[in-house]
Amino acid sequence: MWNFPLSPEQASTMAGRIDLFYWVLVALSLLFIIPIAGAIIYLSIKYRAGANVDRSNPLETDIRLEMTWIVVPLALSLGVFVWSSLLYMDLIRPPDNALQINIVGRQWMWKAQHPTGQGEINTLHVPLGQPVKLIMTSQDVIHSFYVPAFRIKQDVLPGRYTETWFEASKVGTYNLFCAEYCGTEHSLMGGSIIVMEPTAYQEWLSTGGINPSASQQSPVAQGAGLFQQLGCIGCHNPSGGGAGPSLVGVFGKEQPLEGGQTVTVDENYVRESIVEPQAKIAAGYQPVMPSYKGQISEEQIMNLIEYIKSLDSTTPAAQAGSTQ
Ligand code: CUA
Repeated sequence: MWNFPLSPEQASTMAGRIDLFYWVLVALSLLFIIPIAGAIIYLSIKYRAGANVDRSNPLETDIRLEMTWIVVPLALSLGVFVWSSLLYMDLIRPPDNALQINIVGRQWMWKAQHPTGQGEINTLHVPLGQPVKLIMTSQDVIHSFYVPAFRIKQDVLPGRYTETWFEASKVGTYNLFCAEYCGTEHSLMGGSIIVMEPTAYQEWLSTGGINPSASQQSPVAQGAGLFQQLGCIGCHNPSGGGAGPSLVGVFGKEQPLEGGQTVTVDENYVRESIVEPQAKIAAGYQPVMPSYKGQISEEQIMNLIEYIKSLDSTTPAAQAGSTQ
């Protein structure tokens, strides 16, 4: 799609679609502003004080004129509504095959962790032509993950997860900014997104990042270790019968709660259950779990979530857990 010279580069599959919508909105605005401003100027000159003009103000109506200025703006604004809603739906729903990368923001840096365990700070390497989903949280205050070339901007909040996604469409290095004022070094809180050919990305995974070596474990493996270490497994026995429910196969499902409500087991629910276990008690269990608030880092919570996601009754992770 045509790119306005002052706009950032278009480097994602959404960028051109968003720009097209943006410029149509600008054109529509001009379509109204120009005649209205023109009429204001023309009429205020024509009817200025002292001008010799007809001021009899006869009552005249024309139903066709009235209908036109009702129907045309209505159709245009409904069109804008439908178009922007469709665009928004695509923008907030990551495709199922998206590669998931975890992001933690803090004063004043961005930390990223790839599914295979590599970590990086203020840079993010991603493959070309593959949808990438970011699950994000903040360790302190509100930040905002902003990549102009991808036309994405998403607030990153302490105490909960937000997500965004993109599919890079052009190899290159693009700016990453924090777009929410977050303290003294807010303006320095940024970095680069590096889009690579898929083969180069695979190669980078084996050599790049903070922990490129094989000793760096994947989030799932780290989560599995924490699950043992923190003693979660004592109550959340994979084969059931513990003081807490088995977590095998629960992620993404509806969980009945004490009191008759249900909750979808997603990242935010698992996080809440770790830091504030009394908030929503699974039906049939006692509120006996202690809070882990302040005892584990945001990265560790994310790793635990990745581990719980991986606990499908057919995966080796769950089977390994059930032999404990
Ligand atoms: Cu983080 Cu501004």
